[in-house]
Amino acid sequence: MASTISEMKVVPTGGPVGAEIQGVDLREDPPGEVVFAILQAFTEHLVVFFRDQELSQDRLLDIAQWFGPFNVPPKDLPVLGDENQPPVVPVSNYVEGGMLGNRELEAHSDMSYLPVPLLGAMMYAVELPPVGGDTSFSNLYQAYGELDEETRALVAGLKVWSYNPYTPRFADRGAELGGATQKFAEEDPPVFPHPIVRTHPVSGRKSLYVGGLLCEEIVGLDDKEQAATLLERLKAHVDQEHLYYTHQWRTGDLLIWDNRCTNHKRTAFDNSLRRLMYRVQIAGTRPF
Ligand code: SIN
Repeated sequence: MASTISEMKVVPTGGPVGAEIQGVDLREDPPGEVVFAILQAFTEHLVVFFRDQELSQDRLLDIAQWFGPFNVPPKDLPVLGDENQPPVVPVSNYVEGGMLGNRELEAHSDMSYLPVPLLGAMMYAVELPPVGGDTSFSNLYQAYGELDEETRALVAGLKVWSYNPYTPRFADRGAELGGATQKFAEEDPPVFPHPIVRTHPVSGRKSLYVGGLLCEEIVGLDDKEQAATLLERLKAHVDQEHLYYTHQWRTGDLLIWDNRCTNHKRTAFDNSLRRLMYRVQIAGTRPF
């Protein structure tokens, strides 16, 4: 039986982002009003998750498309995996074609190195290590809101570009991120600067579009030393503990994050343990 709106409950995590959506069995399509309420919760809480779901890969694709079409990797730019990756990507340290290994991942917003980064991504927990591999999500609206007046005035109008790890220039970093089948470009592609102060296309709210892992250089300040110092300061600012919610994964969790106003990071886990998540990447629009 399809879940009804009266059974659905949105329970905030109490942290700066995140809400658990209870009372919805995602195996079959709920009525439109439930899907609409899920999308509203996503806009409000930036990260939503459902516990104890039993979902096939095809079903994951159905659900992802409530949020938007899948991301189709560009043919002419390197990405995580390769341009032929399936729409359901295994994030895993042990399955064939598994990506992102077992190491710690610093804070980032997915594919900020592309001209059009992701809207968001969905991860479904299939197999988890008993310890480690926790994913934390930060609120970049709040990070922007907590900037002092002077810094806010300084960053208005500036852009930042992120490095693409799957290129010759950054290959040492990319090798750690991609899996055994990671493809690397032969030449460095152009860079695509995006506004540091990003406006969310649905909420209209401003966020600070900076991450620790990928952001490389600020564009728009003549003084390069000032630009480098500012970037380091902003990276530290967005990575403050109080901006994060840490998700304690359980198998059967389905979690969706808004990549336009959150960063995420992951703790390392022992590589002798097995972790498998199915991830669906949702196509975004050009940042403004
Ligand atoms: C990611 O950074 O996209 C993956 C996070 C995770 O494996 O928890």
